[in-house]
Formats: sequence, C-alpha cells, structure tokens
Amino acid sequence: MEEYALSHQLALSLHSYLAYIVIAVLFLAVGNATLGWLNNKMFLPQKDFRLSLFALILTHLMLLVGLALYFISPNGFYVIQEFGMGGLSSAARLLAVEHPFVNILAVVLITIGWSRHKKFMEGQKKFKSIAIFYGIGLLLILSRNPWGQWFS
Ligand code: HEM
Repeated sequence: MEEYALSHQLALSLHSYLAYIVIAVLFLAVGNATLGWLNNKMFLPQKDFRLSLFALILTHLMLLVGLALYFISPNGFYVIQEFGMGGLSSAARLLAVEHPFVNILAVVLITIGWSRHKKFMEGQKKFKSIAIFYGIGLLLILSRNPWGQWFS
C-alpha cells in the first residue's frame, strides 16, 4: 500500500511540475505562430520549427505521464471502477473523466496541427496551422485543468 502511495506521489508531482512547463511552452508556441501568421513572417527552422516541435514533444510526454497517473491515482480510473460514472461528484468527474478525455483530445489536435504544418511550403500557412490547432488544444487544456487542486 505504501509503495502504491509513493508511486502516486511521484507520478502526481511529475505531472504537476510538467504542467507548468507544458502550459508555458504552449503559450509561447501559440503566440509565436499567431504573430508569424498575422505578420506573414518566414518560418525559420532554428526558431519556429524548434519551438513548435518542443511543444509537441512536451504534450506527448504529458500524455504518457497522464496515462500512467490515471491508472495509479486513487482519483483516476479507480473511482470509476468503484462508484461508476453516475456515482461521481462533479469534482471527481473532472479528475477521472473530463480532464483526461479533454486533454487527450487536445494532444490529438496539437499533433494534427504539427502534421498539417509540414505539408505546406508557405510560412504563413505553417504558422496558421500551428496557431489554430495548438491554440484550440491550449484552450481545451485550460478549460478542464483542475486549478483548485493544483494551486492548493
Ligand atoms: C496535456 C496536458 C495536461 C495538463 C496540462 C495536465 C495538468 C494537470 C494538473 C495541473 C493536475 C493537478 C496536479 C496537482 O494536483 O498537483 C492534473 C491532475 C491529473 N491529471 Fe492531468 N494534465 C494533462 C494531461 C492529462 C492526461 C492526458 C491524463 C490522463 C489520461 C491526465 C490525468 C490526470 C489525473 C488522473 C489527475 C488527478 C491525479 C490525482 O489527483 O491523483 N492528465 N493534471
């Protein structure tokens, strides 16, 4: 039982600290892509490609850590098994259902934005794909983040 609690603490801490980095880097990537798109800038491999790739890798890493946490945490899959979907309070539903589901959707959208940008030659279209798909992904992540628990 203690080992279980320790692995939960470790996974939760990693997930919690990574969340600051992921959200900050996504803000940078979306801001950078929006400026590049609106100002019709050139898409530079050293800056724009790397920043968008870094944001993609971090969100994928977050997905892996989130999935592990989902099956380790007493607030994840366990509560659905124990109480069923109908028996969850809104706070429990946020952690066990809404947050995981919406974040997986966000990672899928961010991945689509990355794949689409590679098909275009023009910088403006590359920036647009990243700005829109990463932007929607970021909004989804922010909409279902457990803010109360994170900052408590
Ligand atoms: C991709 C972006 C994601 C972000 C920014 C994010 C962020 C967070 C934050 C800030 C917390 C609260 C941490 C704390 O209390 O210190 C949390 C909890 C949690 N996250 Fe995520 N998360 C993401 C993806 C995921 C995914 C994909 C899953 C599962 C498939 C997931 C499952 C969970 C679970 C189960 C908890 C509650 C853990 C507990 O209380 O024991 N997360 N997440």
